[in-house]
Formats: sequence, C-alpha cells, structure tokens
Amino acid sequence: MRTVGVLPIAVQALLLFAATLSAQQRVHPDNLAPFVPTPEPVVEKMLEAAELKPDETLYDLGCGDGRILFVAAQKFMAKAVGVELSARLVKSTTEKAEKLGLADRVSVVEGNLLDVDISPADVVSIYLLRLSNERLKPNLKKQLKPGTRVVSHDYEIMGWKPYRTEKVSVHQRTHTIYVYKMPPVEQ
Ligand SMILES: C[S@@+](CC[C@H](N)C(=O)[O-])C[C@H]1O[C@@H](n2cnc3c(N)ncnc32)[C@H](O)[C@@H]1O
Repeated sequence: MRTVGVLPIAVQALLLFAATLSAQQRVHPDNLAPFVPTPEPVVEKMLEAAELKPDETLYDLGCGDGRILFVAAQKFMAKAVGVELSARLVKSTTEKAEKLGLADRVSVVEGNLLDVDISPADVVSIYLLRLSNERLKPNLKKQLKPGTRVVSHDYEIMGWKPYRTEKVSVHQRTHTIYVYKMPPVEQ
C-alpha cells in the first residue's frame, strides 16, 4: 500500500472524509437557507405587493434578524410572527421587539419552519431557496386558508403562477418579488 508520511493513503482519505462529514453536520440538517437579509427597500415592496393590511397576521418563515417583522408591525400595523432556526437570531429579535415596545405585535418562534402551524397567517413571507420552497409547498397547500398571500423574495414556488411579480433594484442588483394567492378550496 502507498503511504504518505506515516499514515497509508486510504486511512488519510478516510480521516478527511470523516472531517468533512462532521463539518457538514454542524449545519442543521433542516437548514433551508443561509442568513442573507432582505434589503429594507425590498422588504417594504414585498409587504406592499402582498397588500398586508393593519391587524392582519404575517408569518416570516426563516425570519433572520426580524427585519420583515418590524416593518410589518411598525409601517403596516400588522401582527408579525417569525420562525427561525438560529437561537442567536431569535434572542436578538425578541430583545429588539421588547426594547421597541412591540412585544405585543412581534413574536418569534425558535424552531423548524416546516414544523410550525402557519394556518393563522394572512400573509406568509419567505426568502428561501427554490428547493426549500418545494419542501414547504405541502404545508402551504394544507394549512393556509383561501386568499392568503405568499410573497417570496427571489425564489419562485415551482409550478405555482404568481398573480404579481415586481422587480426592485438595490445597489445595482435586481431583486424579484413573487406574490401568490391561495385558491378557494376545491368542492
Ligand atoms: C435568506 S434568510 C432570510 C431572512 C429574512 N426572512 C429576510 O428576508 O431578511 C433565511 C433564514 O431562514 C433561516 N432558516 C433556514 N432554515 C430554517 C428552518 N428550517 N426553520 C427556520 N428557519 C430557517 C435561516 O437561519 C435564515 O435566517
């Protein structure tokens, strides 16, 4: 058997494989997208495009630093619920809501967005990857009431037809917003 240094190549390859595997496992297996915040002008446009109204309930699935929740509560006078996997982001968003006196309108659930009951939502916002949207789609179909709007930043929900598509340019990058409406229940 060929050797490099003291360990045979096969053993070295095995160690490298194990190290790579454990690095990958440090990422939560249900992580559907990395934390990349939506720029503020895009947030406003998303909520406008989804026609979020005062006292409606918005769910931001994978809410990151809560920026969509705060705009929904402060500018649109809505109730906003975030779901977030990262305990660190949940803590900082909850603290910010308390500091701003918005704890009655902004809340964050720590956990997997695929496991949360989203049926109270009037608007759902997402900024996930296209294949993550595929994993979420059955929950949207099963749980959302007819007329609920789903607004997605940059990633379409495959096979669904948006009733509105908007483009927003921020710092020379064009962001696309897709808005869907849940159809009436089939008889
Ligand atoms: C692209 S960021 C979007 C953040 C925020 N919605 C925004 O638009 O600014 C995606 C967020 O989803 C969170 N996330 C990924 N998978 C998740 C899951 N299964 N459950 C809850 N949050 C998740 C990530 O931690 C990250 O904060």
